[in-house]
Amino acid sequence: MSQILQIVRKRQSSRVPFDSERLVPRRDLKQILEAARWAPTAHNMQNFEIVVVDSKEVLERIGKINSPISETFIRENYQQLSFSKEEFLQRKVGILATMFPPEWRDPAKVHEVVAESKSWLLSETMEDCPVVLIVTFDPRRRAPASQGDFLGTISLGCVMENMWLVAQELGISFTVMSVFSAELVEKELKQLLNIPEYLRIAFAIRLGYPASTTAKYLRVRRDLAMFVHDNRFGNRWYTPSHTTSSVSIRADSHSKKKTLRT
Ligand SMILES: Cc1cc2nc3c(=O)[nH]c(=O)nc-3n(C[C@H](O)[C@H](O)[C@H](O)COP(=O)(O)O)c2cc1C
Repeated sequence: MSQILQIVRKRQSSRVPFDSERLVPRRDLKQILEAARWAPTAHNMQNFEIVVVDSKEVLERIGKINSPISETFIRENYQQLSFSKEEFLQRKVGILATMFPPEWRDPAKVHEVVAESKSWLLSETMEDCPVVLIVTFDPRRRAPASQGDFLGTISLGCVMENMWLVAQELGISFTVMSVFSAELVEKELKQLLNIPEYLRIAFAIRLGYPASTTAKYLRVRRDLAMFVHDNRFGNRWYTPSHTTSSVSIRADSHSKKKTLRT
């Protein structure tokens, strides 16, 4: 397996408390930001600005921001949950219900959870991380003719993945925090961090090192044959097992050399 594919496969979300005293070295942070810099973006628009927060005082202030739980989130979250490991392994998509508070795991209790309309502090999501990266974009700009800035949004995903892979290679844990883009949270963050009004927060990332080393996740993915179609949608794509990755990787490196020569 190619080295890059190994990193791609090892990359994971790290939803455990971090060691707040173990800082991410600046040189590593710089490499992660370099990865963002070189991410592909539609029309090379480079449609992002990143705020790095590693000041303890600012992190604490962010942690005190309240994040209301969205009813839509809770209702739609259920659809992605597996309620046992067996179900998870069989479905091969979504997430394990055990990642959420017990009352969120019972579809019959959705009304109660919503009615209580609890909120939580961002510190509960940040879980002692020593660094947060906040990725923002300018919604007034868009890739040419891109409806709803669809291409701009994909570009932000490329920025995320580039940073994630480099963090993975550096042994730095990484979790996406979508809640930072929730309307009320975003409003407070923008004030606190002096982010211009016209920018939107796309997502935030927590970086650091787990406080303990025990976290292991069960991660599932669909088999290739479940989503790859051979020439015509519905025809299952099939590769004999002995040729799977090596053939396509060799083909890639050939074409790369060709590009370099021309
Ligand atoms: C656009 C996007 C938003 C995400 N938002 C969150 C989030 O808010 N909280 C979280 O814990 N994980 C978040 N994730 C991580 C996914 O849940 C995770 O990648 C997926 O469950 C697969 O697990 P893995 O990353 O360990 O392979 C997000 C991922 C993406 C790409």
